[in-house]
Amino acid sequence: MSTLVMPRPIGVQMNSLLLHRFAKPLVFGLSLLPFCWLLYAAITQQLGANPAEALIRATGDWTLRFLCLVLAVTPLRVISGTPALARFRRMVGLFVYFYVCIHLLSYSGFDMGFEVADIAKDIAKRPFILVGFTAFMLLTPLALTSFNRAIKALGGKRWQGLHKLVYAVAGLAVLHFFWMRAGKNNFAEVAVYAAILGSLLGWRFIRFIRKNRL
Ligand code: HEM
Repeated sequence: MSTLVMPRPIGVQMNSLLLHRFAKPLVFGLSLLPFCWLLYAAITQQLGANPAEALIRATGDWTLRFLCLVLAVTPLRVISGTPALARFRRMVGLFVYFYVCIHLLSYSGFDMGFEVADIAKDIAKRPFILVGFTAFMLLTPLALTSFNRAIKALGGKRWQGLHKLVYAVAGLAVLHFFWMRAGKNNFAEVAVYAAILGSLLGWRFIRFIRKNRL
């Protein structure tokens, strides 16, 4: 007698893949690749004519990409029925902070020679830097409270409330990018990121309205 084997839905298959013990190290390694490439390119002088600018821009781009990724985890998890995706949210979130720290360090070091007074003056003088710096300041408590002990100490509700700051960070990140490109009249990439982040936040907004039947 032959037994009928039903194919498993994609979400279930994805779920068991993501629960594999090598899944987290793999995601960690992949997330570190841009940094390794940039380090290699800097050491081997492959960053072009203006390596400082290339480094600042590339790390800014990667911060924004990881921000999109971390905000995509929940919609992807719900839409695809893959709860195991939640395992990666904290790691991806910490990579947002990792790349923004390198972005800030590259700017502070290469553009400002680590002169704190000059950095403070520049932040006050150039609005797009102020906006980026505000986003960095808002990301800092999120990174510091992303560990289990902090979650316990804060309590679930307060922790969730605090982590809603990431939505403000998304808005500031797009504004920072937009303002930086304003002088160059080059908005194509800004529009792509604004559309991605807008959709991810819009999805949450619609879900909130449906849940609360407003
Ligand atoms: C969440 C925080 C941040 C995000 C998402 C972000 C993202 C970006 C992006 C996407 C770019 C443009 C890259 C390109 O042209 O391809 C950029 C450029 C830049 N950002 Fe940020 N940034 C952030 C925070 C900061 C902070 C804290 C500073 C410094 C205090 C900063 C300073 C700069 C500078 C100096 C540039 C390059 C401007 C130029 O080359 O003319 N950013 N950033």
